[in-house]
Amino acid sequence: MCGIVGIVSNKSVSSSIVDALKKLEYRGYDSAGISTLNKGFIDEKKCSGRVENLEKILFENPSIGDLGIGHVRWATHGVPNKINAHPHSTEQVSVVHNGIIENSDKLKKEYESKGYIFKSQTDTEVITVILTDYLKTENLIDSIYKTLNKLIGSFALGVIFKDFEDVVVGARRGSPLAVGYGHNENFLGSDSYALKTMTNKISYLDDGDFCLLYKEKIEFYNFDKKKINKKIFELSNEENIAEKGDYKDFMSKEIDEQSYTTKKCIHEYLDQSRNKINIYNIPINPSKINKIRLVACGTAYHSCLMAKYWIEEFTSIDVEADIASEFRYRNVKLNKDDLYIFVSQSGETADTYAALEKCKKRGLKTCGIVNVVESSIARLSDFVLPIHAGPEIGVASTKAFIGQMMVLLLLTLKISKDRNDLNENNYKKLISEIKILPSLIKKTLSKQKEIQQIARDFINAKGTMYLGRGYSYPIAMEGALKLKELSYIHAEGYAAGEMKHGPLALIEDGMPIVVLAPKDRFFEKTISNMQEVIARGGKVLMITNDTSEILNENIRFKFQLPDTDSRISAFLLTIPMQFLAYHVALLKNCDIDKPRNLAKSVTVE
Ligand code: G6P
Repeated sequence: MCGIVGIVSNKSVSSSIVDALKKLEYRGYDSAGISTLNKGFIDEKKCSGRVENLEKILFENPSIGDLGIGHVRWATHGVPNKINAHPHSTEQVSVVHNGIIENSDKLKKEYESKGYIFKSQTDTEVITVILTDYLKTENLIDSIYKTLNKLIGSFALGVIFKDFEDVVVGARRGSPLAVGYGHNENFLGSDSYALKTMTNKISYLDDGDFCLLYKEKIEFYNFDKKKINKKIFELSNEENIAEKGDYKDFMSKEIDEQSYTTKKCIHEYLDQSRNKINIYNIPINPSKINKIRLVACGTAYHSCLMAKYWIEEFTSIDVEADIASEFRYRNVKLNKDDLYIFVSQSGETADTYAALEKCKKRGLKTCGIVNVVESSIARLSDFVLPIHAGPEIGVASTKAFIGQMMVLLLLTLKISKDRNDLNENNYKKLISEIKILPSLIKKTLSKQKEIQQIARDFINAKGTMYLGRGYSYPIAMEGALKLKELSYIHAEGYAAGEMKHGPLALIEDGMPIVVLAPKDRFFEKTISNMQEVIARGGKVLMITNDTSEILNENIRFKFQLPDTDSRISAFLLTIPMQFLAYHVALLKNCDIDKPRNLAKSVTVE
């Protein structure tokens, strides 16, 4: 998952390319580069590290040209150094690539035997070489077409050519690519956000498509080399708002927004005066659903685990939650009476998309729960439920997680109601609790300082554990993931009852342990598990809505949550988890929005 930009214009493009690359840095930030076409030659500049390093190079030695491509990299093949940074160029062609070319080794050998010399360790360079070779004998369209047909894997490409001075080429298979329409200029970008300051008119390439961008027009071709037309989308203002404002980083802004985004999400799906959930067009009649399968990666997978508990609790439907990278290759028994739900903030995650594709090919009923409504997963799903969280830029997902859980909860309650699985009183009770959640989230957000104070306990820890039972278990896993992502401290989320079967051996004197203990039907059991940890020297941060004083002397710190229905306590438990990861990372001087080795949108397997 890298970020790609391409611009053809009637004015110099390098500063606009750099601006767009900065917006794409959430996709990868280990190296950066740019190529422009300057008076008939390709001017390639690249470096390891962030876009700011590239800016310094361009400040010393500006790139000139009305047409160019740019790239931010998240290394897959070859270490993140200058040679492996994109673009990869010959005298004729310069290429930027997002994705993986799976047959690159074979292709490399084939072209080495023809006398070509490869400079980098990347899979991308084969594309440059193959295109260069075809251009000796073929016209532009055929060279692109034949090159694309030789590649196995997933990719989005941006290409410029020495001898075609007015065109930037884009191509897509598996990895996302958007084009933007301007006046006397057109754009290519890995997402619409990268192009937002230049245009709000966007089209999306579908798998197999390629396009030729000229100043005054854009030509689209499908995998059959047939010219096609594309729908133009106009981006709403909201999609155009993704600035940090006065916040130190995007993550703190996104955490802080959660009361508002939850309110918005509830407003979109719940008729609050009639207590009616407005989710229609579910692709299978709820009363006929045999099983629900939830599929996702990372944080989105944790929202699926949470939904598994809700679906089991509120409906009579069997349910499974799967990690997409496993689901796509397993011999899962797929059934046309099952509902398949794919959850993804970006809507572009390669494994989740592939899992969805697998189900679509079998004609199964699919639902996408996404934040980015024009994303590939949204476009391929039979039925889409946006989470309405607004752009999420911090690599570690926060407000999207809360949004995913909210949509999954409302969908569960809707299905449950339609099937008469939940009695009216129970339904009404839950709906009234959901209505006040935004204010409870706000209240919890106001207690940030308490977590900030305890964060110091974690910074020198070798490792930590997050314990929960029942509804708290998925949140314990999400809490541990947040801490790993942001602070690089080893953390595991465990079902508290499982501790005695191994993990208890890890507890050492002074080890910080997070215990999620809402006052639910597991409370006493969780407390017993917590005592086992304390007895072995664990220093406990307890998160609870229990107000009794009895336990206090054994606990290092107790974070008091507002009271809520225990079945939906996940929303509130999540917030101290986010604060903890954030403040530990801040104390350790880690890059909050761009943790090492990670990227926000994972468009490679
Ligand atoms: C990456 C991000 C995670 C995210 C996961 C799934 O690993 O760093 O924060 O949870 O991808 O992303 P998705 O866009 O599918 O929700």
